[in-house]
Amino acid sequence: MASDAGIPRHVAIVMDGNGRWAKRRFLPRVFGHKAGVDTLVKTVLACADRGIEHLTVFAFSSENWKRPTEEVSFLMGLVLVAVEKYLGRLAARGVRVRVIGDRDQLSERLRQACDQAESNTAHNTRITLWVAFAYGGRWDIVQACRAAMRDGVDPQALDEATLARYLAFGEAPDPDLLIRTGGELRISNFLLWQAAYSELVFTDCLWPDFDDAELDKAIAAYAARDRRFGLVKNAAPAQAAANRAC
Ligand code: IPE
Ligand code: IPE
Ligand code: MG
Repeated sequence: MASDAGIPRHVAIVMDGNGRWAKRRFLPRVFGHKAGVDTLVKTVLACADRGIEHLTVFAFSSENWKRPTEEVSFLMGLVLVAVEKYLGRLAARGVRVRVIGDRDQLSERLRQACDQAESNTAHNTRITLWVAFAYGGRWDIVQACRAAMRDGVDPQALDEATLARYLAFGEAPDPDLLIRTGGELRISNFLLWQAAYSELVFTDCLWPDFDDAELDKAIAAYAARDRRFGLVKNAAPAQAAANRAC
């Protein structure tokens, strides 16, 4: 069983399936993205209600830049609309927003919107919403290495804990539960480092249809998992066992 009374501290979600959701309704793909924002707001509050401390969502990947220009432009504009429409509501409900990803790739307006979302909610403590935007797990590892080198970290002193501090959400615990909607069974360059020991839950539910029941189903699956982190359950520590074997 999961060791934390069944509620993960940190949930990460690959919010996939917006385009297919729209297609099934004979609508352009972008309608799915718009519906997906509403689902995200509901999901953040549902996670907060369940005592989840961190929610990380994959909103736009390093590879999504290769999509048609009109879709990319729509998604950039949607961020501005979403900040305008929902930031006040999230801020009032105790949500702290942090944006992780390559901001150098964003327009000045978008960078300002990200800064505004972060500064307006910086004091909140109920839940942290990490929005992975223009984010890729490989980008994250490379930017962390660069930052460590800029800081003059000695290669011999660079260990996992040191590098982790330079990763996009250095201060947050690794995700306990990683959910992917939309039916694909892959990570798509999401949290490559941080998901090392996340419990994975895949659902065919398309992101705009994700609701409380889907969230509770994923949490129930998580709660039933046996998290071992490479250990043998109830065994004596390795050194003691090795000594006894001698
Ligand atoms: C996820 O939905 C949102 C983004 C990647 C921006 P998709 O747009 O990938 O939707 P599908 O997978 O094509 O249905
Ligand atoms: C992953 O979905 C990225 C986001 C949800 C933002 P994609 O739709 O881009 O992933 P692939 O292309 O199916 O792997
Ligand atoms: Mg997709």
